[in-house]
Amino acid sequence: MKKAKVLVTGGTGYIGAHTAVELFNAGYEVLLADNFSNSSPDVLDGIEKITGEKPLFEEVDCSDINAFGLLFEKHPDIRAAIHFAAYKAVGESVEKPVMYYRNNLFSLINLIELMNRQNRSSIVFSSSCTVYGQPAKENLPVSENAPLQPATSPYGRTKQICEDILKDSAMAYRDKLNVILLRYFNPIGAHPSAFIGELPRGVPQNLLPYITQTAAGLRDFLSVYGNDYSTPDGSCIRDYIYVCDLAKAHVAAMERLLEKSEEMKDNIEYFNLGTGKGLSVLELIDLFKKSTGVDVPYRITGRRAGDVEQVWADPTLANEVLGWRATTPVEEVLASAWKWEKKLRGIN
Ligand code: WQD
Repeated sequence: MKKAKVLVTGGTGYIGAHTAVELFNAGYEVLLADNFSNSSPDVLDGIEKITGEKPLFEEVDCSDINAFGLLFEKHPDIRAAIHFAAYKAVGESVEKPVMYYRNNLFSLINLIELMNRQNRSSIVFSSSCTVYGQPAKENLPVSENAPLQPATSPYGRTKQICEDILKDSAMAYRDKLNVILLRYFNPIGAHPSAFIGELPRGVPQNLLPYITQTAAGLRDFLSVYGNDYSTPDGSCIRDYIYVCDLAKAHVAAMERLLEKSEEMKDNIEYFNLGTGKGLSVLELIDLFKKSTGVDVPYRITGRRAGDVEQVWADPTLANEVLGWRATTPVEEVLASAWKWEKKLRGIN
């Protein structure tokens, strides 16, 4: 007997697909919704190969209230939702802010309105450590009560506005809406089966896909965006969290909302999802070589606009309240990313 039906918007995206697998594993009935604006239908086959079940799927643009409403008419038994559907390229958001505001805000607003037509609803929201900007040194590692900083891109601003929309909605609909916001640090890696993984469109913006594409010979070298920061080796520091560990945190959040909501002190909660350990760009390159035996040619170039110098999580609250911890060793995570890249490129 399956547990509740959970809607996963953006369900064929990188984190959405990995979360769908873990929700299946935890016994939930999973309904994926996506418009393939930044993903491929092949992901559904990948999920099926892992779970043995073809996922329930609806192709829908969540920012279109009429189309999204038809999905809810077809699936009146949706008990909860995990909301990933959003554009997420920082650089693109600077060039096309209105596209980002329309898509990212309307998708969430529509979800809240449609979920609220039921007498009880639960939403897990995919947020980001970008809301913290560059924390002051005394606020590192970053806990949930660290001050939020003004976003440095329209993408970051949509995350902050979405958090405010959910906070106001939780206040207004106190008796019927429960919300958990998950602030991700830097998700990396791929499912150990290599049936699903990160599928960046065009030139990868994020560090690890650029590393694996360079290792696979698609790129001549990796540009390290600056080594003149005030860090031990001069390169930026981040908290790189395995996407499968991150996915499991969504299951823990869903269980808290659906099965342990009486433990919630308020009907909205925030959790930082990271390993609690910072790694520099140069350290990650070195660890990739140690984990895979593959060298990654790189050049030190100028800083990238908008980059923060160093940020990593204090995951204590998620560890204690969600009973969740990122456990996968980084060497294993990097090996999973390389296995996925080799699969994509047909490299043995
Ligand atoms: C990491 C580090 C770069 C590429 C992203 C998203 C953000 C959030 C977290 C979701 C930085 C350096 C990168 C390259 C490099 N995700 N780098 N050469 O910027 O921390 O944030 O993940 O919510 O929204 O933007 O991740 O992987 O782009 O960069 O030197 O070719 O690697 O300067 O220091 P970032 P990233």
